Amino acid sequence: MQIIQRSQDLHALVGDLLGQRRRIALVPTMGNLHAGHHSLVALARAQADVVVASVFVNPTQFGPNEDFARYPRTPQADVAGLEASGCDVLFMPPVEDVYPYGIERSVRVSVPELPEVLEGVIRPGHFDGVATVVAKLFNLVRPHLAVFGQKDYQQLLVIRRMTRDLGYPIEILAAPIVREPNGLAMSSRNQYLSADERVRVGIIHLTLLWMAAQTQSKGASRADIEEEALARLRDAGLVPDYAVLRRADDLLEPAEGERHQVALIAARLGATRLIDNFLLDL
Ligand code: PAJ
Repeated sequence: MQIIQRSQDLHALVGDLLGQRRRIALVPTMGNLHAGHHSLVALARAQADVVVASVFVNPTQFGPNEDFARYPRTPQADVAGLEASGCDVLFMPPVEDVYPYGIERSVRVSVPELPEVLEGVIRPGHFDGVATVVAKLFNLVRPHLAVFGQKDYQQLLVIRRMTRDLGYPIEILAAPIVREPNGLAMSSRNQYLSADERVRVGIIHLTLLWMAAQTQSKGASRADIEEEALARLRDAGLVPDYAVLRRADDLLEPAEGERHQVALIAARLGATRLIDNFLLDL
């Protein structure tokens, strides 16, 4: 695996690869890689000749009170893991390479509407930071396809919309959520949890499954299901930000009989904030 730190070097390498008509897949990450990330690399591996992964803790997607400074950084383990999962090129740039004019003076890519709900309300500016860094990576890597996890469902929709609207000729693949044995969605933030907390947050996945089952049985109203879901999370000692059923395409409130829905939960336990979701086809 080739490790590249400067965008000009990556640009040159990509130029060669495209000249050889190689099919390139991109897997953007913020590092501290776990089995969820590795599943994205495996999916990319199966679809392309060359897999490029990036490890970059992107400062513009963290709010002022968020965990940018303490976000776990484990470059050595990430290199070993990516090598084992079949990655060909790892791009690990320093901040000044990605933001040559500094963070405040960077050009921003902003996707309207979608960021005005759920995570976008709780984390203002977050999705602009994500769209900006992903656009920079798309411009640099010029991939044929890019892989994102369903785990960050709203992020996936934001990226799809940006890709189509800016006309990137890039196929966006969604990878299924990889979970711990107790159903907890794998996340770099899980390591903030104590052993006891890790067990307790299993309630998030259970509640999503319960919301799906209730919706499918068509007995209870959406408002009742959402209210009861919040109560279940609170009973387990979590502080939920939301537990909702939304239209899968755009996260708006589903009309009666809407077939493609998604149940989404965000909840905090102590200082750790976790998100998860479950897709329903009714
Ligand atoms: P990060 O949180 O490192 O996640 C990188 C990719 O891995 C994302 O597409 C995310 O959805 C996916 N992922 C995380 N946990 C997963 C799991 N348990 N199962 C499947 N996929 C999982 O998301 C980001 O970084 C950043 O916002 C980024 C897109 C890299 C832009 O900075």
